[in-house]
Amino acid sequence: MKEIFVAAEADIPEGGRKVIAAEGVEVGVFRIDGTLKAWRNECPHQGGPVCQGRVMKGVEERLDDERRSLGIHYKDGSLHVICPWHGYEFDIRTGRHTGLDRIRLSSHPVSVRDGAIYVGIHG
Ligand code: FES
Repeated sequence: MKEIFVAAEADIPEGGRKVIAAEGVEVGVFRIDGTLKAWRNECPHQGGPVCQGRVMKGVEERLDDERRSLGIHYKDGSLHVICPWHGYEFDIRTGRHTGLDRIRLSSHPVSVRDGAIYVGIHG
């Protein structure tokens, strides 16, 4: 596995991201809750550039006991990235599709060394 330089640590602040291309693949690196996550920039649906999609809190609908809608709201603590091609939505922390657990982003190992961020890419 090759380690590829992504950015200086300070260049991806909390809530930030950077997408790099190297060795024939694209990887998106996100910082959330102080943790770096690296996902392949290839949507499991049809290969769209998912890591370049809009980032926002998840939206959910509350129901009362009789399953009547109480309206939709942003779900506290959630953070999703939305694929720009067809709108598949993934939890940035886990890489899981928000509706179908078996659909997931592919992860890459990420590390920090001497103030720089690196991702591992299979050669
Ligand atoms: S390619 Fe991402 S939603 Fe279709």
